[in-house]
Amino acid sequence: MKNSDKPTPDKAAVNKNGKHNIVSPSADAASELKDFFIDSLKDIYWAENALVTALPKMASNATSPALTSAILEHLSVTENQVKRLEKVFELLGESAEGKKCEAMAGLLKEGDSILQETVPGAVRDAGIIAASQKIEHYEIATYGTLSAFAKTLGENDVAKLLTQTLAEEKEADCVLNDVALNTVNMVAAE
Ligand SMILES: [Fe+2]
Ligand SMILES: [Fe+2]
Repeated sequence: MKNSDKPTPDKAAVNKNGKHNIVSPSADAASELKDFFIDSLKDIYWAENALVTALPKMASNATSPALTSAILEHLSVTENQVKRLEKVFELLGESAEGKKCEAMAGLLKEGDSILQETVPGAVRDAGIIAASQKIEHYEIATYGTLSAFAKTLGENDVAKLLTQTLAEEKEADCVLNDVALNTVNMVAAE
C-alpha cells in the first residue's frame, strides 16, 4: 500500500490537548442519524400516549393520597408532553405518528402484574412507585438521548422542547422519591 493510500486519521476530530472536538456529522451520517431520530420520536410518541391511558388506572389503584395526586399531576404533564411531541414533528416537517415502543409496553405490563399480585394498601403503593420510577428513568434516558441528537443535527428549537420534557421527567422522578421516602415506605415497614 502506498503511503498516499493509507487512511489518514481525522485530525479535526482531536484537538491539541488530545480531547475530541465535536465535529459535524457528514451528510450521509446526518441523514442516517435523522432517520434514527425520527424513528425514536415515533417510539416515545407511542409511549407517552400509552402512559396517558395507563396513568389513571395507576392513580385509581393507589391508596396514598400523595401518590394519587403525584400520578394525576404527572398525567396532565404527560398530556402536554404529547402535544409538545406533536410540535416537534411539525418543526421537523414530519407527521406525528406512533410506533409501538416495546420497552414501554414491557414496563406497563410489569406495572399491571404488580396490581394483580398485590392488594390495595401500602405495599401495592410501593410497587406502583417502583414501576413508575422505572418508567420515568426510561423516559429520562430517552429524552436525554433525543435532545442530544437534536443538538447534533442543529435542530435547536426541537432540542429546547425535548429538554423541557427531560426536566419534567426528572422532576416526576424526584416527586416519586419524596412520596416513597415520606409516606409509602414508612407505612409499608409498619
Ligand atoms: Fe413523559
Ligand atoms: Fe414521565
